[in-house]
Amino acid sequence: MTNTQDINNEINILEGFSKKGKSYTNTNGSFGWRNPIRQDTGRILQSLVIAKNPKRILEIGTAHGLSALYLYSGIKETNELVFDTIEFDTAVAKDTQERFDSLQVSINVHAGEAMEIIDNLSGKYDLVFFDAQKSHYFKQLNLLLENGVIGKDTLILADNVIDREEECKEFLEWFTANKINHSIIPTECGLLVANL
Ligand SMILES: C[S@@+](CC[C@H](N)C(=O)[O-])C[C@H]1O[C@@H](n2cnc3c(N)ncnc32)[C@H](O)[C@@H]1O
Repeated sequence: MTNTQDINNEINILEGFSKKGKSYTNTNGSFGWRNPIRQDTGRILQSLVIAKNPKRILEIGTAHGLSALYLYSGIKETNELVFDTIEFDTAVAKDTQERFDSLQVSINVHAGEAMEIIDNLSGKYDLVFFDAQKSHYFKQLNLLLENGVIGKDTLILADNVIDREEECKEFLEWFTANKINHSIIPTECGLLVANL
């Protein structure tokens, strides 16, 4: 049985990490920031999981695991849970997997480039949280759709759609063009919530 208190303690520790985190280089050589979600977003992720009760969760962009722990903390029954998260920095992925293991939370960190990992996923996810490179959201969404690992009733969440709106433009336009029920919550960074 998972200790809720331990998870909440770890969330508090991770909330203390800089929100202007360590920089890294994207696969295309451009610059990125390993910024955890803001606290306002964490509580919303947790509430959406409580409301949706997903059995299969996918996160793209693990970093140190803050958003994953918020998502996990909303799960009522972890027995049948499948929770996959993707991180291309192998050292960070290893460290975060160790964090999850020591908390005894069943989250699998996949170390690698998101497009390659996504291409090898199977089964359908009930909830996907996009939080890696913003300009890749659209191609990641398309690959998930093409491979049938998301579809009707998958809840799509994506961070930074306000503060990084320009990079998310094509991604955001897709929801409007396809008349997908969606809304943008005006958190500090902007959280897209959409139901396919
Ligand atoms: C904004 S941080 C994620 C923060 C995390 N969701 C949280 O709130 O705790 C983005 C993470 O995605 C990873 N990342 C960026 N581009 C990626 C890609 N193409 N494939 C896999 N991981 C990627 C980065 O290394 C970074 O750790």
